Amino acid sequence: MTELSELSELPEPVAFPQDRTCPYHPPTAYEPLRGTRPLTRVSLFDGSPAWLVTGHGVARDLLADPRLSTDRTRPGFPAPTERFAAVRHKKTALLGVDDPEHRVQRRMMVPSFTLKRANELRPSIQRVVDERLDAMTAQGPPADLVSAFALPVPSMVICALLGVPYADHEFFEEQSRRLLRGPTADDTLRARERLEEYVGELIDRKRKERRPGDGVLDDLVHQQLREGAVDREEVTALAIILLVAGHETTANMISLGTYTLLQHPEKLAELRADPALLPAAVEELMRMLSIADGLLRLATEDIEVAGTTIRAGDGVIFSTSVINRDETVYTEPDTLDWHRSARHHVSFGFGIHQCLGQNLARAEMEIALHSLFACLPGLRLAAPADTIPFKPGDTIQGMLELPVTW
Ligand code: HEM
Repeated sequence: MTELSELSELPEPVAFPQDRTCPYHPPTAYEPLRGTRPLTRVSLFDGSPAWLVTGHGVARDLLADPRLSTDRTRPGFPAPTERFAAVRHKKTALLGVDDPEHRVQRRMMVPSFTLKRANELRPSIQRVVDERLDAMTAQGPPADLVSAFALPVPSMVICALLGVPYADHEFFEEQSRRLLRGPTADDTLRARERLEEYVGELIDRKRKERRPGDGVLDDLVHQQLREGAVDREEVTALAIILLVAGHETTANMISLGTYTLLQHPEKLAELRADPALLPAAVEELMRMLSIADGLLRLATEDIEVAGTTIRAGDGVIFSTSVINRDETVYTEPDTLDWHRSARHHVSFGFGIHQCLGQNLARAEMEIALHSLFACLPGLRLAAPADTIPFKPGDTIQGMLELPVTW
């Protein structure tokens, strides 16, 4: 059995995270890790070691293993960045709690995020998409697709679903951006505190309303909070994760998905010719782009896996971009293929923390990408592809801006 301490005898480990060289391919620094050991040692920003999981089978086994915790307040929980370390002590609902607490929170939220509910929301998502396309085409060409379309669509959808006023979008989008990629650890902590204040005040306002609205937060405040099933701190933590995860992630998929399609005109043409391929295409883009590239866990007990012992207290990180290109699962994994079954990708995670918003996200991506390319048949990049800035490796992957014309 190999252990983390023994691996430190080996040559210099790869540092995690790494920047991508192409926004839709895994970082080239992870190339040597592909197809070799299913887990390997990496070093984090402060020099501490952690396991990086890169094999598909081992990843799914471990993501379903209750001996791996997502409670970031536990000592030794792996921090990929200084800014993550700065907010680690803050209560994170769902993604930051283990069972049985997690099960209680998840049960409370699941009815609002079922496939049926996401399908019911399709007409209102379509309205938002059409409205944003009208606004963008009224002002352009050209346009920055991120600020004109990819960000406002999921932001408006999650606001309506939660019962958060969209009028406040500039504020919470900015704080979310700082939370996920603020310039300093202090800035990140301040952003988290500002979000807490904002959501706390929103909850207090909702508490006083005689006629509650029909958002998820209204239900939480007027039912669960009133009945004492949750306290204000917990509702705040739930609201923050839903608000932040609900817009930033999908926005990145829409911007990076569009960029990727424009870089693969033959795949785009195939999709245009047969829109029935759309759900499979969204799944394949999810696999290829792997925008949440580094899921974090802490081992609470010793775990033996693939000839290796993960010791209690070891940090474990999942590189979804490498896992989703495991050649034993996907033929020609670096090629976009709408006809493969990409469903077993781990881009929404796996196990009890698998993305709560995945049905909603799929509906948003399908409607946004379909309407964008149907409405603008001449859509193309307005700058050379290799000059368009994308996000660094230490945050959710996506385009910083996407200049387009049509
Ligand atoms: C394409 C867009 C999205 C991607 C790529 C994505 C990705 C993920 C991933 C990878 C996880 C698991 C993290 C882990 O295990 O460490 C997760 C969890 C989660 N996601 Fe998403 N997500 C997306 C959209 C959304 C949306 C629209 C919402 C809406 C509210 C959402 C809410 C959540 C929540 C609440 C969790 C935590 C679930 C739990 O711990 O039980 N996500 N997401």
